[in-house]
Amino acid sequence: HHKMTPFEIIGEEKLSELVDRFYELVSNDLELSPVFPEDLTETARKQKQFLTQFLGGPPLYSEEHGHPMLRARHMPFPITPKRAQAWLACMDTALSETSMDQAVKDYLYDRLTHTAQHMINTKE
Ligand code: HEM
Repeated sequence: HHKMTPFEIIGEEKLSELVDRFYELVSNDLELSPVFPEDLTETARKQKQFLTQFLGGPPLYSEEHGHPMLRARHMPFPITPKRAQAWLACMDTALSETSMDQAVKDYLYDRLTHTAQHMINTKE
């Protein structure tokens, strides 16, 4: 007997769709686009790896990049409370546009809310 992980419930294809839509929204967000690279291909690839393991799937991110240490990896970028809100708003929109189990969406959004909060490293 195996309890399905959130990653298994969502599936690789839907997760990939979600991340691609998310970064499309990020690139069009006036608050967020200045801190991100222009080409988000590599960013999206890493985020797919990260979210796969974050949701109980295989540890793709750690295998390639080592321990996530997300807060430390975000220190080069000024992350204000307003930017954290903008990040979450893009994720909320991307989730609303992607069809997947609602309970899993709520679970993911809730966890990301905490992670985003933790990334804030500067005042407005
Ligand atoms: C990388 C911004 C929140 C996961 C990055 C990068 C930026 C950024 C500018 C570098 C992109 C690149 O060089 O390719 C932000 C902002 C956030 C935020 C403004 C607002 C709170 C989060 C959250 C997560 C996350 C909540 C958790 C899912 C990642 C990952 C990377 C990344 C996995 C790739 C790290 C690497 O280079 O290996 N983020 N981020 N970020 N972010 Fe965020």
